[in-house]
Amino acid sequence: MPGIDIYNASGCHVHDIRQHKEVSIDLQEEIKAGLSSTPKSLPSLLLWDEEGLKRFDKFADRGQYYLRDKELEILQKRGMEIAAIIPTDGVLVELGCGSLQKTGRLLQALEKQNKSIRYYALDVSLRGLTDSLRELSRELGTIRSISITGLWGTYEDCVTWISSQVGLESLGMSTVTFLWMGNSVSNMDHHADASALLTHLKHACQSSSLDCQFLIAADACEDIKKIHDAYDTRHPTLQAFISNGLAHANGVLGHKVFCLEDWSCVSEFYPHESKLEVYYCARRDMNVDLGNGGTYHIQNGERVRAITSGKWRKALMIEVASAAGLQMNHAWGDSSGVYYFYHLYDGI
Ligand SMILES: C[S@@+](CC[C@H](N)C(=O)[O-])C[C@H]1O[C@@H](n2cnc3c(N)ncnc32)[C@H](O)[C@@H]1O
Repeated sequence: MPGIDIYNASGCHVHDIRQHKEVSIDLQEEIKAGLSSTPKSLPSLLLWDEEGLKRFDKFADRGQYYLRDKELEILQKRGMEIAAIIPTDGVLVELGCGSLQKTGRLLQALEKQNKSIRYYALDVSLRGLTDSLRELSRELGTIRSISITGLWGTYEDCVTWISSQVGLESLGMSTVTFLWMGNSVSNMDHHADASALLTHLKHACQSSSLDCQFLIAADACEDIKKIHDAYDTRHPTLQAFISNGLAHANGVLGHKVFCLEDWSCVSEFYPHESKLEVYYCARRDMNVDLGNGGTYHIQNGERVRAITSGKWRKALMIEVASAAGLQMNHAWGDSSGVYYFYHLYDGI
């Protein structure tokens, strides 16, 4: 099932690979589940609509958000080496591609190496995806050996889509490389969830008789001050990014359940759990009424988790990989040793 082709303005093909076209219904259920749980949370997917992607980029373009600069530094200095592990006649799938600001460097390195590659950019927001693909095409200009296609869907949709790619192998495409940048691997609620997704992607490749490998860029920073500065919730760009999650929730629920003025945003770093969490924080006692779905009492000062960002040391990344039956072949670090690109392969 290649997915339904969508007309769009990016100049690239975009396949709709969504299994559940009614995403808002799933999100409504997840909102209920999150508000019923202890501690409370809201689905992080609420942050990633078209507006959320724009606001995230404004936040991430600040120098204090060291992750983006570190990734660019590694791609700048080691891009050719990283590209060298991607075989020619291969498939490159970028998970949660966002604004695609860094991808051009890797694709240019692949082009210099004369590799024939089918590149697929996956994300959940169609408008965000088409805007990003248009920018990427403009940045790259004419490229000879790489085809670019968008995939509109979630990570789980990608698993299903890969499982249906029987036949690629007969076209001489035998390896899928999953590229996952921006420390998104650690946005999963728990690192076991990241291992589970890697396992699902690996099994999907196996069921389509494809080999698979992963290139994952992740944050290993342990410097508390640096982390606090990066996620300083007094900064308006972070507040704007997080509050858009509540606006999106209102859109999904079909009425104004969350009054944005009633919420601020706070973050906390948990060194022993190697993670930072960002929360919506209630400014007063309130009842959140989801209609038929129930009413949830929230106290002044109570926190509702918006997103997690792991700060995983290399050893933890090796654990995550090994729980998915993957081995770490190489890690390319930035000059200060806080950020890495990991090459994981199916070693079993
Ligand atoms: C932290 S941003 C990183 C964006 C980009 N990779 C970068 O490095 O700048 C996370 C990206 O993953 C996407 N995303 C989040 N959850 C997703 C899911 N379940 N399925 C597909 N994409 C998802 C978001 O839309 C967003 O573009």
